[in-house]
Parts: sequence; C-alpha cells; structure tokens
Amino acid sequence: MTEKQEILNIGIDLGTSRSAISASNGRRDWVESFVGWPKDFVARKVLGKAILFGQEALENRLSLDIYRPLERGVIKDGSERSAAAVKELIRHLIETAKGDNGYTQTRAIVGVPAESFKVNKLAIINLVSDFADTIMVVSEPFSVAYGLNALTNAMVIDIGAGTMDFCIMRGTMPAEADQRTILTAGDHIDAHLDTLLRERYPAADFTLNMVRRFKEQHSFVGQPPAPVIVELPVAGKPTAHDITMEMRRACESILPAMVETTLELIAGFDPEFQKQVRNNIILAGGGSQIRGLREHLEGVLKEYGPCAVQTTADPLFGGADGALAMAVDMPEEYWEKR
Ligand SMILES: Nc1ncnc2c1ncn2[C@@H]1O[C@H](COP(=O)(O)OP(=O)(O)OP(=O)(O)O)[C@@H](O)[C@H]1O
Ligand SMILES: [Mg+2]
Repeated sequence: MTEKQEILNIGIDLGTSRSAISASNGRRDWVESFVGWPKDFVARKVLGKAILFGQEALENRLSLDIYRPLERGVIKDGSERSAAAVKELIRHLIETAKGDNGYTQTRAIVGVPAESFKVNKLAIINLVSDFADTIMVVSEPFSVAYGLNALTNAMVIDIGAGTMDFCIMRGTMPAEADQRTILTAGDHIDAHLDTLLRERYPAADFTLNMVRRFKEQHSFVGQPPAPVIVELPVAGKPTAHDITMEMRRACESILPAMVETTLELIAGFDPEFQKQVRNNIILAGGGSQIRGLREHLEGVLKEYGPCAVQTTADPLFGGADGALAMAVDMPEEYWEKR
C-alpha cells in the first residue's frame, strides 16, 4: 500500500476499446471499454453485482445491457445511457487508482480521441467532475507526445480502435489545425476482415470478437512473416483455415488514408522544419503493433527525404502515463476550477 499523499495526480486514457489509468501513487490499471448493467433482477442475482466492466462484462453479455460507449471516438449517439457508461468507467478507474487511501485533492487529466475532444470535451469534464477536484481534457495523441517528451517538431499517430488520430507538435499546446482524425483504424480493419472471411469461408462460424483476436495475434502489412492459419468451426467441427491474404488486405486497408494524412500534415508545417518532423514520427496505440507498419511508412516517406518512424514502447499505457506526467507538471492556473 502506498503512503497517504495530499494530492493525487491522475492520467486517464479514455479509449474506444480500452481505457487506462496511471496515478502518482504508482497505481496503474486498464480495462476494456465495456460497461454492462444486469438486464433484470434475475441477471442481477446471478451476477451478484450492479455493474460489470471490461472482459467480465463481455463474458456475461447475454445477461447484460452492454455498452461500448465511445464508438468512433464520440459518446455513442449522445444517449444518456452511453454517457452514464462513460461515467461509470471513469468512476471504476479512479476508484481503483485511489484504493483505500484518502486524498485531500485529486487532479485528473483525461486523454480522449481527438474527435471526442472536439465534440464531447464539456460532457467529459462534467462526467469526471464527481470523482476529481480539478480536471483537464486533452487529445489522446497530445498526451502520448507529452509522455515521450516529443513536444517540438514531432508527429504522433495514435492508431486506436475507433479512430486514427494525428498530432503535429510545434513546441506549444497543439491547436486544432495541428490535429486530424480519420475513421480508418482498428474497428475498420476488423469489419473488413470479417467481410473478407465471410466471403471466402461461407461455411465457417465466427464472430467479430474472434476476428479481432485473430487480428491482434497475426496482423501484418507487406510480406507475410508466416502463413496465418486459424481454427474456425464448420458445422461445429474446429477446422484449420488459411487467412493470410485476407489478413494482409484488411490490415493494408488503413494505409492509403494514413499515408495521405501524414503527408498532408507535414506539407502544412513550416518548410524549414519539415525534415525534422519527418525524422520524428511516433506510432502509438494498439494498432501501432501491426507488423511491417513502421517500415511501410518509412518506405513511403523516404521518397520525400530522410525520415525516421518509431513505435512507442508501451502502446497500452503511453497515453495514461503522458497524461499523468502532464498533470504533475501542470501549473495551477491551467486547471479547470469548479
Ligand atoms: N497486435 C495488434 N495488431 C493489430 N491491432 C491491434 C493489436 N493489438 C491491439 N490492436 C488493436 O488496437 C486497437 C486498440 O488500440 P487502443 O487501445 O490504442 O485503442 P483505443 O484507445 O481504445 O481506441 P481509440 O483511440 O480509437 O479510442 C483495437 O482495434 C485492437 O484490436
Ligand atoms: Mg486511444
């Protein structure tokens, strides 16, 4: 158990598929962004809980009203239930980070997909305000950049589930023009792979969740590192299926928009510094783990001059750690007072 402190600083990465927290007391945790309420009193009795999160919610989804509240980066369809789900998710993370310790003040920085930042910033501040004394909402790629100290002449590409968020850093807080969001990210690959597999193997039985797991195990672009063989049931019998080419096509489907947006943002940067940005590109988020992605982007950008693309060491906690570092550094006057 960590010592009691006066102020608890918290960094949260509120993601479409996964949400993570890092706190100044050393606690870290993450949960898949699913929230479920028991459907009726029977379900409640069976489950023994009023609310379930993450993997546990997913496993019990038949007895739950289940939400993945941040689809495509914004609070899904603006519904009250989705907002309540976001709120419960934040409560769950903050309570886990606080543990039994008492703090006189809690300061939280929440990194959200760039699109939520535009649309839902105030809504998110309101949702967090019950659990923290002071709050700031920042865009996700900015918190990643902050955590890596890539604050000037750098570009972060955060490849999440709902969105791919770009942020170019000029040594100041990024403005809206320095950021872009596109919708071709992890969920898009899953949907595409699902379609391709249904076309090729109509007799096989599988769900979108299974497709996502296959992707997380075997994703690649370019030359296949090895054939991708997975087991899918056919009339109840587990059967090996080769999905190498479908995997490649689905993963490569995010490349054109990714390359185009990267080039566009660099072209809009001060020409004297474009070379430095090209040498300081950082891939973050779960999608950055796609094999061959870094090399592909470097290959394309090389045509414009020397370049270097790197991948963050910690795609799961990079955003939360960056938001925490920012919370620790942030001068008093920047915080939203309530
Ligand atoms: N090894 C992998 N290869 C390819 N994709 C992966 C891998 N591991 C995770 N992913 C994908 O990364 C995405 C999740 O990444 P991340 O946790 O950064 O997203 P998020 O923050 O929840 O989403 P968003 O930023 O859009 O709100 C999912 O689509 C997941 O399937
Ligand atoms: Mg994210």
